[in-house]
Amino acid sequence: MSIPLNPRTLAFQLLFFISYSVLLVTSRTLPSISIPDDSHSNSNSQVFIWPLPSNFTFGNQTLSINPDLSLAVSGNGGNSGFLADAFDRYRRIIFKHESKLRRNVNVAYDIEKISVVVHSDDQELKLGVDESYSLLLGKGNGYSIVGEVTIEANTVYGALRGMETFSQLCDFNYETKTVQVYKAPWYISDKPKFVYRGLMLDTSRHYLPIDVIKHVIESMSYAKLNVFHWHIIDEESFPLEVPTYPNLWKGAYTKWERYTVEDANEIVSYARARGINVMAEIDVPGHAESWGAGYPDLWPSPSCREPLDVSKNSTFDVISGILTDMRKIFPFGLFHLGGDEVNTDCWNYTPHVKQWLHDHNMTTKDAYQYFVLRAQELAISKGYTPVNWEETFNTFSDKLNPRTVVHNWLGPGVCPKAVAKGFKCIYSNQGVWYLDHLDIPWYEYYNADPVEGITDASKQELVLGGEVCMWSETVDASNVQQTIWPRAAAAAERLWSNPESTSVGNSTSTVLSRYQYFRCLLTRRGVQAAPATNFYARRAPTGPGSCYEQ
Ligand SMILES: *[C@@H]1O[C@H](CO)[C@@H](O)[C@H](O)[C@H]1NC(C)=O
Ligand SMILES: *[C@@H]1O[C@H](CO)[C@@H](O)[C@H](O)[C@H]1NC(C)=O
Ligand SMILES: *[C@@H]1O[C@H](CO)[C@@H](O)[C@H](O)[C@H]1NC(C)=O
Ligand SMILES: *[C@@H]1O[C@H](CO)[C@@H](O)[C@H](O)[C@H]1NC(C)=O
Ligand SMILES: *[C@@H]1O[C@H](CO)[C@@H](O)[C@H](O)[C@H]1NC(C)=O
Repeated sequence: MSIPLNPRTLAFQLLFFISYSVLLVTSRTLPSISIPDDSHSNSNSQVFIWPLPSNFTFGNQTLSINPDLSLAVSGNGGNSGFLADAFDRYRRIIFKHESKLRRNVNVAYDIEKISVVVHSDDQELKLGVDESYSLLLGKGNGYSIVGEVTIEANTVYGALRGMETFSQLCDFNYETKTVQVYKAPWYISDKPKFVYRGLMLDTSRHYLPIDVIKHVIESMSYAKLNVFHWHIIDEESFPLEVPTYPNLWKGAYTKWERYTVEDANEIVSYARARGINVMAEIDVPGHAESWGAGYPDLWPSPSCREPLDVSKNSTFDVISGILTDMRKIFPFGLFHLGGDEVNTDCWNYTPHVKQWLHDHNMTTKDAYQYFVLRAQELAISKGYTPVNWEETFNTFSDKLNPRTVVHNWLGPGVCPKAVAKGFKCIYSNQGVWYLDHLDIPWYEYYNADPVEGITDASKQELVLGGEVCMWSETVDASNVQQTIWPRAAAAAERLWSNPESTSVGNSTSTVLSRYQYFRCLLTRRGVQAAPATNFYARRAPTGPGSCYEQ
């Protein structure tokens, strides 16, 4: 095309081109501005509670909450520091916008206090502890004109779950500058689908400071997860202090990247205050090279550093000593003994181990079994129930101690086989629940079913639940939270909620907007949760836009 050189025409064309470009650029960079649809408001039937409670009803009242909200406890288990501490934590979350000044203003609020009734004074946190609760939040109801909030639970742990739900109903209204609850009265009756709702964190491939671990644990409580599986040690580093074998933590990367016994105790009590069990893992006989930094005799030879030396009783003395020390730190009944990815080839190339195998008429596979079973016996003798990765089951299911909890990871279909043989099972299929697989989209997490392939209800009960796994080869303090969240929340709802009411057939778009809402709730609470619909998890947002739409 020939462009006429008439300057006026040229100027006009340029002008046209520029304004057209501006239009293009504008429409490309500015997000579509949507009027904030007051998400919790009465007109909207969406329920923004994550994970979705089993049973709930709501109305159409809007109630305001006094920022000086008080706590009234009752019941045998009411008089517990737990509840007061949890209430303080949630007050800071709920009333973060309220200034001290406003509290003195003489405003009438609908809700002045929260009543928590806990029936049992048993505060032991264990697998299967009763986490059910009911939450009543309303005004009127024919009884009273004052608003009331009542949480009723059998245990303090149920009450903690109820407080989390209450905190998610509270919404700061930027117009009136008060905290409000929409769609009251609420009646919620809730309990988890699975007793084991876990997150695994690997602190060997990269050390994670205790404040970072605590932050992960705190964020787990927002999604009602209840087991922190601490994969403390692996082949790369041994960060934990073991008093009985004080050289073991010479296997830490540096003298700074270590956990004292006191640090571990602190993590356990911090988690307990949030209703979260800590299951520690000592992965044997593979994944244990770092042990030899302090005790080289644990290595079959300098060129064969794992699996640990099966031929020496001293190897088992060390495991026994570690387990005795662990028992004092980790009260949870389950203890993970690993047992995965054991390559026994170098046992055969190490003369004294080869001799021992010959003397005991064992193949290396027999010796792997012998090692795992002997470690299981030790754990059981200290009062632990052993958990092992699925390779142990896949290799010698008939020999495995019947108390073993089989931990699935390699793929689907293992829990059905394990429960058919009477074992308990934890679901972590890496195709859908491995957080280090950055390309697994949130809906794959959400659609996973821990009891898939198991139809018999009595067998389904042997599936304790599931766990998302955060292996840390490419994760450290700089990116751990955005790799965990929000996808761990998709699994958390699957583990807590009723599958009928949260099936994707029940409208994916509804789930997506609820999921995006929860991700933004996490970010409001200071958790670095990545954009919800990223192709690669933890990637930064691709451009400007609302948290609720990314
Ligand atoms: C609110 O709920 C009451 C009782 O269910 C009903 O009578 C009333 O019409 C509702 N109001 C609105 C605005 O939906
Ligand atoms: C929810 O409601 C169903 C049906 O009414 C009932 O069977 C179930 O026990 C309820 N769940 C809870 C946690 O209250
Ligand atoms: C090693 O331990 C086993 C099992 O406890 C025992 O039978 C064996 O005699 C021990 N071997 C030595 C050399 O102490
Ligand atoms: C060695 O083990 C094999 C296979 O378990 C068995 O058939 C054989 O009888 C054993 N030999 C001795 C000497 O125990
Ligand atoms: C959707 O959820 C409701 C409420 O729990 C349930 O009654 C219904 O069966 C679900 N529908 C589907 C298609 O799963």
